[in-house]
Amino acid sequence: FFSTTSSQNAIKTVTVIGSGLMGSGIAQVAAATNHKVTMVDQTDAILTKSLNAIEKSLEKVSKKKFKDDPEAGKQFVTDTLSRITISTDPAANIAETDLLIEAIVENMRVKHNLFAELDKAAPSHTIFASNTSSLPIAEIASITKRQDRFGGLHFFNPVPLMKLVEVIRIPETSEETFDALYQFSKELGKVPVSCKDTPGFIVNRLLVPYIMESIRMLERGDASAKDIDTAMKLGAGYPMGPLELADYVGLDTTKFIIDGWHEKYPTEPLFSPSEILNDLVARNKLGRKSGEGFYKYE
Ligand code: NAI
Repeated sequence: FFSTTSSQNAIKTVTVIGSGLMGSGIAQVAAATNHKVTMVDQTDAILTKSLNAIEKSLEKVSKKKFKDDPEAGKQFVTDTLSRITISTDPAANIAETDLLIEAIVENMRVKHNLFAELDKAAPSHTIFASNTSSLPIAEIASITKRQDRFGGLHFFNPVPLMKLVEVIRIPETSEETFDALYQFSKELGKVPVSCKDTPGFIVNRLLVPYIMESIRMLERGDASAKDIDTAMKLGAGYPMGPLELADYVGLDTTKFIIDGWHEKYPTEPLFSPSEILNDLVARNKLGRKSGEGFYKYE
């Protein structure tokens, strides 16, 4: 009885909705670890682009993983790709799905529309998970009638490289669901941590206020950007300084998160907005991706 429980609950077939930065990474890693994956997005053009990105990324992975056996590397890429099916209809392939992971645009209304439709279409055993960074899992789940089979799976960018997954439970999440999500994260070769459904979960709740404090320090003129970053690298052992990190994450993303929290918790000083940040974003200086943020990039 006990030995069969885990294999009965094991996740074999996965549907990933949204094939952008995060969704394509999740689909790739799930397929590379022997899961059958359906990757869904709005158009075939987007899906084709995502598949190409996955192929490129897999080739990189295989060069490292099979450096002494290029034939096995090629086979790994082909086999992984053969486990990914693409679709523009989220409900179409869901009958077989054990786990559905949502990685679409960060907008509650759009996520609700999707989950309301999928809740009707999906078989009762299918577990739903959201990869949201900043929206409450409980609020996303509230549109469905399967809150016991709902949780958060928060991956990190770039998904194939970043080892961490935050597994988020809401009060309704059943033990079986939580275990299945936790176990699945391990099967992907990731290290899961567990967290309640609280703003920013673990990583962003600590990281975003830290980044904001460094921006406020700059704003007050206490130290230069370069000196703040050098100090935290050499004095605290961080691989990147907070302002470099903000540029890497994207200043628009940082602003989006802090604005959302500030609106919800207006008296929390750690969540207060910053004029420098707002100004940089208004001038489309978004960090690395736009060529300039706190620093200039070639
Ligand atoms: P993205 O913009 O790269 O990709 C989103 C994809 O979803 C796009 O391809 C879009 O066409 C598709 N999409 C939008 N609405 C859809 C719908 N109704 N049905 C099917 N597909 C739809 O966004 P990204 O960065 O991958 O983020 C996705 C989610 O992951 C968001 O909830 C975000 O908060 C979260 N996240 C993002 C991280 C990041 O570093 N970018 C890190 C961890 C979580």
